[in-house]
Amino acid sequence: MRCATFAVLLCLAPTAAAAADEGALLYAARCSSCHGDRGQGSESAPPLAGKSAADVRFMLGTGRMPAAAPGINEIHRRPAFTPREIEELVQYVGSFASGSTQPAAPRIVRGNVARGRELFAANCAACHGVTGDGASVGYGNVAPSLHDSTPQQVAEAVRVGPGVMPQFGSDVLSDRDLSDVVAYVGFIQHAPPQRNPGDAGGISLHHVGPVAEGFVAWLFGLGALVLFIRKIGTT
Ligand code: HEC
Ligand code: HEC
Repeated sequence: MRCATFAVLLCLAPTAAAAADEGALLYAARCSSCHGDRGQGSESAPPLAGKSAADVRFMLGTGRMPAAAPGINEIHRRPAFTPREIEELVQYVGSFASGSTQPAAPRIVRGNVARGRELFAANCAACHGVTGDGASVGYGNVAPSLHDSTPQQVAEAVRVGPGVMPQFGSDVLSDRDLSDVVAYVGFIQHAPPQRNPGDAGGISLHHVGPVAEGFVAWLFGLGALVLFIRKIGTT
């Protein structure tokens, strides 16, 4: 009967229960001072109960949490925890509420770069720039460079909408669309900057526009797409 108080998963896998204890300890030491001992939130931080696994994993995986102090605009840093500790914290935070009101963690598959480029241009480039270098979005907010994000983090960010970034639900971008966007972000991360034809003429890729667009099209012609697909195929 004790099982009824735990998630079915915990009953099936005894090791998962140990992980939850570990998560509880980490949470008490590193999160509860701001988010409350059961994720109820405080004056200085929002509640965590009911937040999606994607949200918690994104905030921890990009090193945004634990925040150094309340009210700081968090940026991508080295994560404070190992991948295993992150999963333990995700699991523990998930135990605060019976069900998340937010979308499940996105499932990404290998996407189509050309289609992703169109979706990125329509939904992301206005803030992050066509080449994903990032840009100011006003009022002191910066859309960061996307060059350090893993495919999973890109997908999580899109579904979660961190900070002032809008949240894109699956009604706006399906999981298939999202996979294509992720493929395109992977492509621009691997496009070698030294092959920017603009370097010779002093026009840098940061000047988002026809040059950058043309550069990307030019790389397609050189088969960089094939190289990229082979590269992600081996990881
Ligand atoms: C110094 C205070 C502080 C500490 C410590 C802290 N947080 Fe936060 N956290 C914040 C603040 C402030 C925000 C809201 C601003 C933001 O999103 O950057 C936030 C936001 C979040 C969010 C996004 C919530 C949302 O509304 O979508 C998650 C998830 C999160 N924190 C998890 C954690 C976890 C897990 C830990 C422990 C490893 C932690 N935080 C430690 C202050 C803190
Ligand atoms: C309205 C402007 C805006 C739009 C549109 C937008 N973003 Fe963002 N994005 C932001 C801001 C601002 C942040 C930083 C949020 C924070 O850290 O609080 C961000 C953060 C991110 C991050 C996290 C990067 C890191 O440093 O870890 C990723 C990945 C991302 N966005 C991808 C996307 C993708 C893909 C799209 C299109 C589907 C998109 N964004 C659309 C403004 C935007």
